[in-house]
Amino acid sequence: MENSYSNIFTFNKNILKKTIYILNNGGVIGLPTETVYGLGGNAYSNKSIKRIFKLKGRPKFNPLIIHYNNITDAVNDIETNKNFKKLYKKFCPGPITFILKRKINSKIKPLACANLKTVAIRFPKHKIIRSLLKKIKFPLAMPSANKSASLSPVNAKDVNEEFKKNLSFILDGGVCKIGIESTVIDLTSDPKILRPGIINKRHIEKTLKKKVKNNNENKKISSPGMMKKHYSPGIPVKINQKKYDGKSAFVYIGRKYKNRKNFFCLSKTLSLDEAASNLYKIFRKIKKMGYKKIQISKIPNIDSGIAINDRIKRASKFK
Ligand code: TXA
Ligand code: MG
Repeated sequence: MENSYSNIFTFNKNILKKTIYILNNGGVIGLPTETVYGLGGNAYSNKSIKRIFKLKGRPKFNPLIIHYNNITDAVNDIETNKNFKKLYKKFCPGPITFILKRKINSKIKPLACANLKTVAIRFPKHKIIRSLLKKIKFPLAMPSANKSASLSPVNAKDVNEEFKKNLSFILDGGVCKIGIESTVIDLTSDPKILRPGIINKRHIEKTLKKKVKNNNENKKISSPGMMKKHYSPGIPVKINQKKYDGKSAFVYIGRKYKNRKNFFCLSKTLSLDEAASNLYKIFRKIKKMGYKKIQISKIPNIDSGIAINDRIKRASKFK
């Protein structure tokens, strides 16, 4: 063991064997993806899925994403279509989740999909999960590895912080490059983005050569996980802030407040991808430092800024 945590393991051949053993026996583990860390278990096993819901404290009506190595592994479980194939070719493996119709004889346990006729699937890019998915005979049901409604973890220690002794096996894959959750797109009829991410509407429209809808917040919740209070650091978050209140942690983008105490920069160069990758990292740091409130300045609502604004807006609903 190279670290002081008894439940965090560095990936190697022996650990891979142990990981496969745990998963084959209905166990649940923490593991890295390129977006955020996940809490993974066998999507064909009720035992695993029940454990995931229990550990997360997740309501049963909120379905899980099923992770595959490639499209060949997924075709027996889902109905493919043209839009899916185009997006798969362009972006996978990568940070995008597709909602598709579930095949009648799909082996995915209905419990993982909250008994819906649809299923969310994703093909993650991180080296560790890819080498694991190649070796196991089932896909991984895997939500982000955080307690329900809190911040997604972006390194192995964050996962430990969420579950402590209740999770005895976490694979260390370093810091997640992307840092926020995958884009979720519903492809069961006209394409509709349910959760914005780094792969944005513009990228998707360019690939599909057609207009794509955004989820309308005011309508009924079409993605069960898209509850308003979500992604919360556990302290109040105030968005679109112009004036520092003198005591909160102030989060911003650019160079305006360089080197000021209590000020935290998401990206000096105004890169929205970089800002997204730093968001949860900085929120967790602020919380740990003991601040009682987060103020955040206006974030441009374009490209990855749309995903950032989605998350901070939801975080701001926490009182
Ligand atoms: O980047 C990610 O997607 C990460 C990593 C670990 O892969 N996973 C993740 O999972 O963010 P989770 O469970 O935290 O978020 C899954 C989202 C939820 O909002 C859920 O409601 C939605 O996907 N979802 C799952 N199945 C769905 C379905 N059949 N229809 C609509 N939305 C669905
Ligand atoms: Mg989540």
